[in-house]
Formats: sequence, structure tokens, C-alpha cells
Amino acid sequence: MKISKVYKHDVIILGAGLAGLRAAVEIGRKFGNRVDVGIVSKVQLMRAHSVCAEGGTAAVLRPEEGDSFELHAWDTIKGSDFLADQDAVFRFVKLMPYEILLLEHWGIPWARRKDGKVAARAFGGQSFFRTVFAQDKTGFFEMQTLYDTLLKFTNYKRYDEFFATSIIIKDGKFAGLTAIDLVNGEFVLFMGKVLIIATGGAGRLYRFTTYSHSVTGDGLAMAFRAGLPLKDMEFIQFHPTGLVPSGILITEGARGEGGYLRNKFGERFMERYAPSMMELAPRDIVSRSIMTEIEEGRGFEGPEGLDYVHLDLTHLGKEKILERLPLIRELAIKFAGVDPIKEPIPIRPVAHYSMGGIHTDIDGRTPVENIFAAGEAACVSIHGANRLGSNSTAECLVWGRITGELSAEYALSHDIKFREDEILEEAENEAKRIEGILNKDGDKNPYEIRNELRKLMDTHVGVFRTGEKLEEALRVVKNLKEMFKNIKIVDKDLRWNTDLVSALETENLLDLAEVVILGALMREESRGSHFRRDFPYRDDERFLKHTLAYRNEDGSVRIEYIPVNITYWKPVERKY
Ligand code: FUM
Repeated sequence: MKISKVYKHDVIILGAGLAGLRAAVEIGRKFGNRVDVGIVSKVQLMRAHSVCAEGGTAAVLRPEEGDSFELHAWDTIKGSDFLADQDAVFRFVKLMPYEILLLEHWGIPWARRKDGKVAARAFGGQSFFRTVFAQDKTGFFEMQTLYDTLLKFTNYKRYDEFFATSIIIKDGKFAGLTAIDLVNGEFVLFMGKVLIIATGGAGRLYRFTTYSHSVTGDGLAMAFRAGLPLKDMEFIQFHPTGLVPSGILITEGARGEGGYLRNKFGERFMERYAPSMMELAPRDIVSRSIMTEIEEGRGFEGPEGLDYVHLDLTHLGKEKILERLPLIRELAIKFAGVDPIKEPIPIRPVAHYSMGGIHTDIDGRTPVENIFAAGEAACVSIHGANRLGSNSTAECLVWGRITGELSAEYALSHDIKFREDEILEEAENEAKRIEGILNKDGDKNPYEIRNELRKLMDTHVGVFRTGEKLEEALRVVKNLKEMFKNIKIVDKDLRWNTDLVSALETENLLDLAEVVILGALMREESRGSHFRRDFPYRDDERFLKHTLAYRNEDGSVRIEYIPVNITYWKPVERKY
């Protein structure tokens, strides 16, 4: 394999979900044709996983009715179990209302109140109705609105269906990105003055997950292999309401609209665990409560070990369900055979979000000055140990905007020459590495390795964790990595080789699994989504700090820690 094309742009945006698109739109509207952008995505633009976001986007829109930036910041920081960086959270809450307004001006069909104002619904851990929404398809409408807006500009070129394989850093700066053009199998090099990584999370580490098949942590794994640290990766969010048996998201908006959680005795069991916030406690708490009900025999027996409890919407009435939750009804009918107007929905906690990501500062800048990260791929960190629902699409918008603007400014203010000759050798080496994987003819099936990994993450790195299980998980992952060296790629053709892509994704997932597990093993405390049965309390003395995972030269993982930015509130006990 040889590099067959070199594409050059001022700014390369890797990933075309909400954060990537918002960055592109910001560059278009502020800098126009002065900054030339390449948007690289492994899927077609409107297939980014962001279109699956359902419930809404949090913002303070009603100070006159009692909401405030301080309240949104407090909810977010308390929700994070005090691991969020408080300066970043304040920046976030202050910038968010403008994003809602911008989308409104660009044509998004926000739901309305009777008085004509933009409506907002309740969401978990948010102590005010501040989740703005468009039915239960908010991510889809946000993506469509940004895409429509992007079409006004002429300063960008899209590279849909290009699978990126490596980030090249030369003399401490971003120099290039290698990728496979999936349509024809050509191996290409992107060169840019700046890179924004906006590739989303790594939810397909798990088998029972809300994520699209494409969410395999490619950007995170590439950044890690290129030497960038990953932050707080042990914090995986389990959303309380994954549809059984598919894992498809049943939005928290369903509880925001008044849905109840019931066990097999019909009890609203959240009374036992979060008597004041009930079903709208933060996700880590609701997920643990559901798992406790199931483990103590008060759940229903489900298929393939997927025992469940009920999400009951029947009391909301047909009209409300059809107006506010039409997608949820459709999903429940199609994928579980129940009509929520008449019957409760079978649900259980499901892998939904990575609080961790590529380590950045408050501007979304990584330790390499011309590489930014935004959205779920980044860890700024505003979510700490547990994200509040509807703060994620919001984060994509805010740091999409910030990194878009800063990357364009960087490109304009730095006289960077593209020195193709200097990185071509490295790019050719990467091409050879990929060719080596394509030619693998061993006796291990990469799909089986991926399935083993995902099952392991479900059983050993889930809602409740123990040192023993984590140690075993680490051993198994290392073993799977060894097995991966001996895989067989059946399809040797270069065009649209999904066999090869799937193997590369699996390699990415294996690298990330090791980081997640090691971070979880070393964090001997319980905080937010990370609950250790052998260390059931938060330990601020030892662990009020961010985990940073680095890759050593020999491929092993090194863990370091950095302090949390506590600028406003001292950590207190977290009760709901
Ligand atoms: O439940 C939901 O609609 C998910 C929202 C989120 O993760 O922010």
C-alpha cells in the first residue's frame, strides 16, 4: 500500500457529529473563505451517532422563572461527584443559552410552550426545567440544522467514508492524518495546520449499549497511540433506561415527562434510593438502584440474562406520548413489542457515554498546541465522574464553537508550511502497518475477539465493579490483544473492506479497554459512575484527582494524576 493522495487544508476536522459540525459552522460564519476546512468522517454526515441523541440540550433560558447559571453549574458539579473542573463548568453554562438561540435562528423546530416560548423539560439531576428539546429526536434536528447551515458556506470540503488510522505528530506538532478512502481502498494523507478531533465516544466497548455500531473510539485510540493522554476513562455512564433486549435508548425525557420506574411488585422503588428526586435522580444513582432491585430479586427475568424493571408511561396518556415521545413509542413497539400507551416498557441500565476522553484544557486544546478535541472525544472536564443528561449535546455545541474559532485563529496566525517530504515516510510506514493487518492470515477470528471483549466489559466493568473482576478483565484483555496479533482477515480486496475496518476498530477498542480497566482498578474509591464494591465510599483524600493514561514506548499503559480545578464549591456529601 502506498500513499496515493495528499489533501491539504488549514483545519482538519475529524468527525462530523454535533461537535465537528458546530466547529465547521463556526469557522464558516466567522472566517469564511479565509480558512479552508476538510471534514473527515468514517460515515456519511447525517449518520453520525449524534443523530441518535433524543431527550434534549440543557441551557439556562428562564432566569425570570428561577433558573440561574449558578444553579446549572451547581447541578452539574454535584452531579459530577465533584470531579468536574469548576472553571470549565461555569464557562459552559454561560455560553449555552446563546447556542440555543443560534440554533433557533438557523431553523431548528424547538418544542414550544403554550405561550409560544421555547419549551424545556425536566431531566435527571437538573433542579430546574432546563432541557430544551425537539420532540424526542433532538440530536437529529440539531444535526440537520447544523448541516443546513453548513451548506451556506463554501470554505470546506467533505471526506465522507474515510476511515482515519493514525495521527502524525512531528517535532511536537500535528503534521498529518492517515486514512483509508473506503470507497476505493486508497490510502491517503491529510495535512493541516490544525486538527480538531471530534470522533465521539467508545460505547461499542460494551455489548448492551445505546451506541451505533460506528462508535468504536477510533479518535481516542489514535490520539493515545500518537502520545496524547486520555483523561478519566474509567468513568463510563450507564443510562438507566436501555430497551430490553436491544439496548436502544429510551430517553430520560420519558421520566422528565413524568414516567415511573416500577419493580415486579409494581413499587416505585426509587423512593428507597433518592426520595426527593425519585426517577429524576442522576443516572449513576438510578442505574445502581435498578441493578440493586434486579440483584435482590425484584426485577423481571429477561432474555440472555438481561433482567429488567419497568418504565411505566401509561398514566401520561396517549396525547402526551404522541406529542412528546413519538420515537419512544415507535421504538418500544418495533423493538420490544409493547405499546407504552397501554403497557410498561422493559428497561435496564445500558452503556451510554464516556465521561473521559482526550485530555484538554478549558479551550479544548490538547497538550499538542495545534490539536484540539471537542465533544465526547474530549475530556475538558465538565462531567467529572457522572454526566447529567442533556449536558452532552450542549457540550458538543459549546466546545464545537470554541475549538472551531480557536483552530481558525491558530491557522491564520501561524505561518505553517506543509512539509510533505518530512512526514511521507511516517505515513508510508502506517500504510505498511495497515497492509500487514490486511494480509493477516492467522487462526483467530477478529469478530469473536470483539464479541468476547464486549461481553467481558458488560460482566466485569459494569455498574458495580470489584478489584477482583477488574484484575481478571485486565488479564483477559491482554490475552485478547495477544490473540489479535494472530487474526485472519478474510476479505483481501481494498474496496469497501468492512472486514479490515472492523478489525481496525477492534484494535482501537482493545487499546481503550485496557485504559478503562486499569484506571478503574487503580481508583480505589466509589465516585459517580465508578462504583467499587470493595471501596464503596468516595475518598477525596486519595482520589479527588483526574486520571491521565499515557501509552509507553513498549505499548503498555502508564497512569498519572492531575488535580481537579475546584474554584467555587468545596466537595460535600452528595445526596438526592
Ligand atoms: O436520555 C436521553 O435522552 C439522553 C440524553 C443524554 O445523554 O444527554
